[in-house]
Amino acid sequence: MKIKTIVLGADHAGFEVKEFVKQILGKLNYKIEDVGAYVKRKRDDYPDYAEKVALKVRRSRERRGILACGTGIGASIAANKIPGIRAALVCNTAEAKLSEEHNNANILVLGGRPFNRKAVRRIVKTWLKSKFAGGRHARRVNKITALEKKYGKQGRGGHIR
Ligand code: RB5
Repeated sequence: MKIKTIVLGADHAGFEVKEFVKQILGKLNYKIEDVGAYVKRKRDDYPDYAEKVALKVRRSRERRGILACGTGIGASIAANKIPGIRAALVCNTAEAKLSEEHNNANILVLGGRPFNRKAVRRIVKTWLKSKFAGGRHARRVNKITALEKKYGKQGRGGHIR
């Protein structure tokens, strides 16, 4: 399946890296759907953007997402709560490649505080051109889907310490 559209989202701490990724994608001729933040506010909540990106990505196989927050950690935790989402926090090109080949990641998550433009450009390009390898990896990804079904309706747990 050819990916045509990339959905972008970020909180205040990921805002700059999102805007930078938008420039990269524009040059690569992807259709971009930016769900915000549209301006850098003082404070924003990354789960709001994670949800917006995830809901669009899970609706169509032709879409993938790129999310950012300060570390990338909160946005990936939040996005991975949504069934069908495999969000991967990636820090280098090797992880970008493997997150696709092994995990069929449908959302790439970046940390924006700080970020290195050259590294981000390479990560994004590598992730976009990498393909899911299937085979034994499909078995494992199917097991992730099975976990969603097994535990998805249990509203409690994960107590805050
Ligand atoms: C915001 O200060 C920061 O906590 C957020 O962007 C992210 O890093 C959370 O994981």
